[in-house]
Amino acid sequence: MLSYEKIPKMSPEFIQEYLQKLGTQWTGQGVAIELGSWLGGTAVPLLEGLIEAGYDRPFYSFDRWTANKAEVEKAKKQGVRVKEGQNLLPLFLENATTIYPNIKPWRGVILDTIKEYPGDPIEICVFDAPKTEPTFTEALRVLLPHFIPNVTILGLLDYHFYQMHKGNRRERFMAPVRFMENYSDHFSRIKDWKRKKPLYIYSHVFFRYKKELKI
Ligand SMILES: C[S@@+](CC[C@H](N)C(=O)[O-])C[C@H]1O[C@@H](n2cnc3c(N)ncnc32)[C@H](O)[C@@H]1O
Repeated sequence: MLSYEKIPKMSPEFIQEYLQKLGTQWTGQGVAIELGSWLGGTAVPLLEGLIEAGYDRPFYSFDRWTANKAEVEKAKKQGVRVKEGQNLLPLFLENATTIYPNIKPWRGVILDTIKEYPGDPIEICVFDAPKTEPTFTEALRVLLPHFIPNVTILGLLDYHFYQMHKGNRRERFMAPVRFMENYSDHFSRIKDWKRKKPLYIYSHVFFRYKKELKI
């Protein structure tokens, strides 16, 4: 059994498998970074692939790591008991450092913590927290200068999620779609599960950063 199968997750298995494979394709040109790691359900499979490829850099991870009601329920359904308000960083670290010790976590609101990104070139970047404004554009404003043209992969989890909503909520979740449409010359879509059903789990898209973008 792969080690990540024991970790509570919010993403479907096919994404875990895809991230694991993506990790194995690491070329040594930059770090891997994830915004929205929760308990490690996506970070750990990615790390497993990276390790296979010889990854020797820090793994940067950003999250609030404070359990809310929905997270308490999701963890409970997957056999892990946490309390509302609990600091989840120790649990994430326990899951992630078991397989890879060099994890650099930033706990707090991404709008603030992202400013502390140390500036290593980025090869793999997974967004599973910035899905609305102002966080989405602010995170990219900080990280884009460290993307490598024709190399960096940007994974936007829940990209098509807006289609499940109406009104203001739909508008809010369209932030990533608007951004990628505005700057479509700078990215190519390498993986999109859109056509599969049900949409709420098959809604992730991965892009390759093609040419320099300054925002
Ligand atoms: C969808 S979950 C991540 C799940 C994980 N990637 C997985 O598949 O198992 C999103 C995570 O991002 C965090 N998050 C959401 N918005 C955030 C923000 N603005 N700042 C910091 N963390 C945030 C939540 O606390 C949660 O842990």
